[in-house]
Amino acid sequence: TAPPSPPSNITCVKKLSESPNLNSIPSNYAYFTNPTETIASDSDDLIPTIDLSLLTSDNPDQRSKAIQDLDKACQEWGFFMVVNHGIPETLMKNMLEVTNEFFNLPEEEKPEFQPKKVLDPIRYGTSFNTAKEKIFCWRDFLKLFVHPQFHCPHKPDSFRDLLLEYCERSREVVRKLLKGISESLGLEESEMDKALDLGSSFQLFVANFYPRCPNPDVALGMPPHSDHTLLTLLIENEVGGLQIQHKGRWVNVNALPNSILVNSGDQLEIFSNGKYKSVLHRAVVNNKKTRISIAMANGPSLDTVVSPASQLVQTKGCVASYVPMKYKDYLLSQQSNQLNGKSMLEQVQIHD
Ligand code: SIN
Ligand code: FE2
Repeated sequence: TAPPSPPSNITCVKKLSESPNLNSIPSNYAYFTNPTETIASDSDDLIPTIDLSLLTSDNPDQRSKAIQDLDKACQEWGFFMVVNHGIPETLMKNMLEVTNEFFNLPEEEKPEFQPKKVLDPIRYGTSFNTAKEKIFCWRDFLKLFVHPQFHCPHKPDSFRDLLLEYCERSREVVRKLLKGISESLGLEESEMDKALDLGSSFQLFVANFYPRCPNPDVALGMPPHSDHTLLTLLIENEVGGLQIQHKGRWVNVNALPNSILVNSGDQLEIFSNGKYKSVLHRAVVNNKKTRISIAMANGPSLDTVVSPASQLVQTKGCVASYVPMKYKDYLLSQQSNQLNGKSMLEQVQIHD
C-alpha cells in the first residue's frame, strides 16, 4: 500500500520563530517536560580523527595505520572527524551559504518544492514526517535525491552548480572511506564497491535549518535516531547542536574547522554483521543563533539487497544477525514513519 501523502499545512519553524512576541514554543514542540534532558556531557575522550590523505597514501605503513584507526573509530564510536579530505573550504562555505539563501526565499516561493509523495526527489518540509508525528521537531528541511539522478531546486541561482560539485566530491570521500572500511573488515578493498553497487550509489542531500528557539531545553531539532545510510557526511555553520550517544551518555560534538563529521549508518551495521554499529544521534537547538547543517546521506544503490557480507558469516560459528532487505524498501519505510531511535534497524535484526 502506498504511504499517505505528506500534508503541507504545518507552518515551518522558520516562520514560527519569526512571529512577534513568541515567548515560548507551542506545546506540540515540547519533547521533554524535564529541561535537563537536553544537557549532554562534554566528551572525556576526543572524537576520533581520520586523516584521509593517510588512508590513500602510497606508504603501506601509513595506510595500514589509518585503516586500524578507522576500525577503532567505527567500533568504539561509530563516528569520526575527517581531515585532509580534499573538499575545498570555500565549497563547503558556499554550500552552507546557498542553503541559507534557499531557506530565506520568500515563503510564497517555497510551496512548489513541497512533495506529493514520500520519495519525491525534491522535498522541502518541516519536522520529519508531520503526517505521523504528535510532537514536532524544531527543524525545517530540504531533501534532494542527487545520485544516480541529480535533482535541485531552480533557485537560488548558484545552487545547482555548487551542489553538483559538492555531491561529487563527497561521493569521492565516501568511496575512499569505504575502501578503507572494506579492508578494516578483513575484506578486499573493492568488496563493498562490488557488493553494494556503489557506482550507482544512492545519495540524498539533507539540509537542516534550526532557527532560534525560545525553549531550547525542552525542544529538539531532531529526536534520537540512527541513519538509514552506509555513511553520513555532515557539515554545519559555526553553531553546534549535534549530540551522539557514546557509552550510554549524550556527548556534544563540535567539529574542527574545515573538517567533515562522519557517522556510520544502518546499512553499514547490517553489512558488517553488527561489527560497526549505526550510531544514535540527535540535534539540540539554542535560543541565540540559527543553526544550519548539511547531511549527505550515502547508501548502496537502491536496488541492492543488503545483507551481512558473506565472507563475514561463512566462518565457523558466525551467523547472520540481520535479514536481507532491499535498500529502497528500507528507505521508503524509514521515511514514511516517525524518526524513532533504531526502530527500522530492529525490524531486520535477528535476536537470538
Ligand atoms: C542529522 O541527524 O541528519 C542531522 C544532525 C545535525 O543537524 O547535526
Ligand atoms: Fe541523522
